[in-house]
Amino acid sequence: MSVTKQQVLQALARVTSPSNVPLTDAGVLSDVVVSDGKVMLSINVDAAEVREWEKVRAQADSAVRAVPGVASALIALTAERKSGAPAASTAPAARRPAQPGVPNVAAHKPAATPHGSPMSRQAPIPGIAAIIAVASGKGGVGKSTTALNLALGLRDLGLKVGVLDADIYGPSMPKLTGIHERPQLTDNKRMIPIARFGLAIMSIGFLVEEDTPMIWRGPMVMSALTQMLREVEWGTLDVLVVDMPPGTGDAQLTLAQQVPLKGAIIVSTPQDLALIDARRGLAMFNRVNVPVLGIIENMSYFQCPHCGTRSDIFGHGGARHEAEKLGVPFLGEVPLHMSIRATSDSGAPLVATEPQSEHAEIYRAIAARVAEKLKPRAAVN
Ligand SMILES: Nc1ncnc2c1ncn2[C@@H]1O[C@H](COP(=O)(O)OP(=O)(O)OP(=O)(O)O)[C@@H](O)[C@H]1O
Ligand SMILES: [Mg+2]
Repeated sequence: MSVTKQQVLQALARVTSPSNVPLTDAGVLSDVVVSDGKVMLSINVDAAEVREWEKVRAQADSAVRAVPGVASALIALTAERKSGAPAASTAPAARRPAQPGVPNVAAHKPAATPHGSPMSRQAPIPGIAAIIAVASGKGGVGKSTTALNLALGLRDLGLKVGVLDADIYGPSMPKLTGIHERPQLTDNKRMIPIARFGLAIMSIGFLVEEDTPMIWRGPMVMSALTQMLREVEWGTLDVLVVDMPPGTGDAQLTLAQQVPLKGAIIVSTPQDLALIDARRGLAMFNRVNVPVLGIIENMSYFQCPHCGTRSDIFGHGGARHEAEKLGVPFLGEVPLHMSIRATSDSGAPLVATEPQSEHAEIYRAIAARVAEKLKPRAAVN
């Protein structure tokens, strides 16, 4: 039996707001998306009232999950931005009364926040010692490939590592890891990340069919991400590597603000254009006071798969140069190589499947530099 939006709304109408108004009349609900038994929505509230609303969110969650035919639900509290949300489907937002919410990220002033960082407002995630973001200014520079192999490199150092694919619009982890199974739920309905290659891995791609077109509004992206962070049974992790969506727009900036990040890593290709984007990435993290742990140059030089000869077809070294100029650590360079592409595209990440290769060694060396920066004595603030 398939669930309808109407049934979900009926269930939500039986839950009341802190001031005893049915949720459906409280002017706080985002559009409700129902797809193949999965229900997604957000509750947009005043940031100052989050505590009272958390109980309501939990009740809404239970009510929706109790509707026959609901396989999973993603419901979260958000404080909606007033403008600048991604283009998709803005009509429901227009009907909703204005919410005080958090200020538009564009107006954000880090200096005004306690301890100087908006991240200090984000509660740490119990059990996770450090969360790092792998980001890039533009798409297709190999960020997801780098994030996963870096995570595996950190695993090889003996660390307990998780990977969160925060690319809600175009999740890569199903393809890169070959994982096509759904996460199991614990007794209290928390998702259990998929254990593969010695990592704990979570992606929205494990919850929705790969070819389902995803139309998310800004607050829903936040809901999904918050739930994937906070309502997943990550267990104890030394590091959680977050593969960020490409770009440095408001959506990414908001993402960066939602996650209690210890630091960020920028992936860039050596071309000038990509470096301009990398600079934007740096600026974005500076704006939210997240330390940039360093830059990785990907597809740095071309290495012939037959003879191993190296050619700097892209004017290699640009990222190192740029990092030096900006005073940001340079973490290493990864060549453009067929085996990296082939392993990544076939769901068998290189560091896991070709651990003896020189490329795996490169990723491990980068991981060692990252791990060094995460040690408390090397804390970057
Ligand atoms: N060092 C490399 N050598 C060869 N191919 C690579 C390398 N790094 C990444 N690739 C390939 O480049 C393509 C893009 O990589 P990936 O998906 O990791 O990039 P991305 O920056 O995460 O992209 P998106 O912006 O779409 O999320 C993939 O086909 C991947 O296999
Ligand atoms: Mg990607």
